[in-house]
Formats: sequence, C-alpha cells, structure tokens
Amino acid sequence: MRLDVLTIFPDYLAPLDLSLIGRARRDGLLDLRVHDLRDFTHDRHRTVDDTPLGGGAGMVMKPEPWAEAFASVVAAGRAELGGDAEPLVVFPNPAGAPFAQATAQAWSERPWLVLACGRYEGIDERVYEHLADAGLEVALASLGDYVLNGGEVAVLAITEAVVRLVPGVVGNAASLVEESHSDGLLEYPLYTRPATWTDPAGAVREAPAILLSGDHGKIAAWRAERSRERTAERRPDLLARREAPAAGDAPDTGHGR
Ligand code: ADE
Repeated sequence: MRLDVLTIFPDYLAPLDLSLIGRARRDGLLDLRVHDLRDFTHDRHRTVDDTPLGGGAGMVMKPEPWAEAFASVVAAGRAELGGDAEPLVVFPNPAGAPFAQATAQAWSERPWLVLACGRYEGIDERVYEHLADAGLEVALASLGDYVLNGGEVAVLAITEAVVRLVPGVVGNAASLVEESHSDGLLEYPLYTRPATWTDPAGAVREAPAILLSGDHGKIAAWRAERSRERTAERRPDLLARREAPAAGDAPDTGHGR
C-alpha cells in the first residue's frame, strides 16, 4: 500500500517510523511518504494561509499550495504505480463522515491513499471542487465529535487503523478477528497468568474458571456472552445498530462529498 501525507508539520508524523507501522515500512508492505505543503509555496514566507473572505475568526488555508501539492503527489504516484492508478484522497475533518472499523477495512484494501492534513479553520472549499473536477475520489473523515487542532493526529490514528489491516502487517491475523468492533461488538474481557492473583491491596482475584477448563466450545460461548453484555452496558448504540442497521451505517468507502 502507498500512503502520501500532506502536512505543514512533517515532524508530527515521525511516530509512523515506530512499532508495527515502522516495521511494515521496512518490510516493504507500506510505502509511506510525508510531504511538506510549504514546499509548494513560492513566496519568501512560504505562506499557506490567509484571512477568511467575508470576515470571521482564524485563518483559512489557501488553495494554490494544495492544488500544486496534489498535482505533484498524484503525478509521482502514477509514475510509480502506473498511469491509471487512482488514489483515494482523505481529508480528516470534524465535519466528515465518522471513521469506523468498516472504513478502515475498506481503505486497507485500496492500493493508494493520499491523506491531507488541514490546519487553522479549514481549507478553501474550492480545493475540494477542484479535486472532484479532476476526477479524484475524495473522502472527509471524522474521528469523533470533537475538534483537534489539525489533521495530523487524525492521520496518525487513521493510518494505524488502516495499515494494521493490510495483510502481513499484523503477524497473527487471527488477532484481528476477535477484537473490538470487528463484528460490531466490544471485545470480551482478557486474562493471562497467574490464574490466581493477589493484588497490591491483598485482594485475591481469580480469572474465570471456565478459561482454564480446556473446553473451547464453552469458552467461545462464554466470551460471546461477555461481549454482548459489555456492549449492552457500554455501547448500547452498537447493539441497536447491529439489530437494525440504518442506511447511514454503511462504511464510507470514499464516495460522496
Ligand atoms: N480535524 C480536526 N478535528 C478533527 C476530528 N475530530 N476528526 C478528524 N479530523 C479532525
């Protein structure tokens, strides 16, 4: 998979050299490139923002550096991946469609994502129109109903959620099957040795005996029950959605802005 990230803070993406994602890059499973949006400016101050037309607080990202950056990144990607390669262009944005496990799954199956980090109050709207007119597929993705200072933290989260689903990145693929959200439920509680643990306050805490029984059928049933119970308690919205999926629950695979 190829990932191009556009940002005015390339250093923010340094953690993508670490851990699982770093190893995926070194193993050649992930070709990740970070580009500095300011490299696509032409003034002495490398300006990427200006005041909002019509007035108002804050600054708006100018369209010209974005258009130049996309032209460069898309051309370079096509030169390497083939002339007909089509990226999905993702803008993290609190006004986007919710980014969920189904989104991560759908995007992990794509060969090429371009992740564009906005800052300030946002990006000039004409950038989105321009990309759509250029035939690029554009998706806006929100991590949740809160506002971050920019798209970089969201890109870290999206990258990790997507790349770990790329075949070969997580060593034991079975560990992806039963985790929270993989089937619309929260994961069951986990235990390891010692089966009897005396905590620092002196309380003796036993792991559930069934997990030591060796009866895989019963263990699976117990876990399924705990998953359901936990989901009902913590995320009743997920249970309701499983029972009656709404039209808006379909994974956002990149269409529709
Ligand atoms: N940028 C700012 N806030 C965001 C959010 N909640 N999700 C994605 N991108 C964002």
